[in-house]
Amino acid sequence: MTNFDPILPVVVLDSAASAEMLGAALVAAGIRQAEVTLRTPAALDALRILARTPGLRVGAGTVLEEAQVDDAVDAGAVFVVSPGLDGSVLAAARRRGVSAVPGIATATELMRARTLGVRTVKFFPAEPLGGPGAVKALASVFPDVSFIATGGIGPQRAREYLVLPSVIAIGGSWMVPQETIAAGDFAAVERLCREALVPG
Ligand code: 3PG
Repeated sequence: MTNFDPILPVVVLDSAASAEMLGAALVAAGIRQAEVTLRTPAALDALRILARTPGLRVGAGTVLEEAQVDDAVDAGAVFVVSPGLDGSVLAAARRRGVSAVPGIATATELMRARTLGVRTVKFFPAEPLGGPGAVKALASVFPDVSFIATGGIGPQRAREYLVLPSVIAIGGSWMVPQETIAAGDFAAVERLCREALVPG
C-alpha cells in the first residue's frame, strides 16, 4: 500500500519533454509524489520519465480501464487513481501489486468500494460536492475509510481539508498548472509547490 503525503500534485502533461524538469522542480520543492493523468497522448512517456526521478513516487491518474493499469505500471506507476469506481481496475491493480485509489462521490459508491476491499478513496470532485463539510459527513459514517479529496481545490481551502483526520491527502493541479509547465517556467512550479506544502 502506498503511503500518501498530504499534497498530491495532479499533473497534465502536454509533452514528455517537460517531464524531467518537472520532476526536478517537484523534488527541489520537497514534493515526493505526483499523479500523471492519462489524458494526453504524451502521458505514458511523461510518466516513464518522471518515474525515474530519484525521490519521487509516481502514479497514474484518470485510469478508466484495466488495460491502462498495465500500461501505467509498465511505465513505472506505483499507484493508480481513478475518477470513479471500477472493479476491473481494482483487480488489475491488485494483480500488478500497486495501490488503487478509486473515486467516489456518494455514500452508495463508498459502500460498494468498501465491499471491494477499498479503504482509501478519492473524493471527487471535492469542491462541487460540498468540500470539507461533505468529506466530514461521509467520514462520520465510514470511520475506517481514508480520503484523498480532489477536484477544484485551491490553496485557500487546502488547510480546511487537511485538518480533517479522515483526509490523508488532497490532490490538485493548482501547484502544477498545465500552462506554466508548457511555458517551461519550472521556477514558478517549484515556488507553487513549496507554497502548497505550507497551506495557509
Ligand atoms: C483530477 O484529475 O483529479 C482533477 O482534474 C484534479 O483536480 P483540479 O484540476 O481541479 O485540481
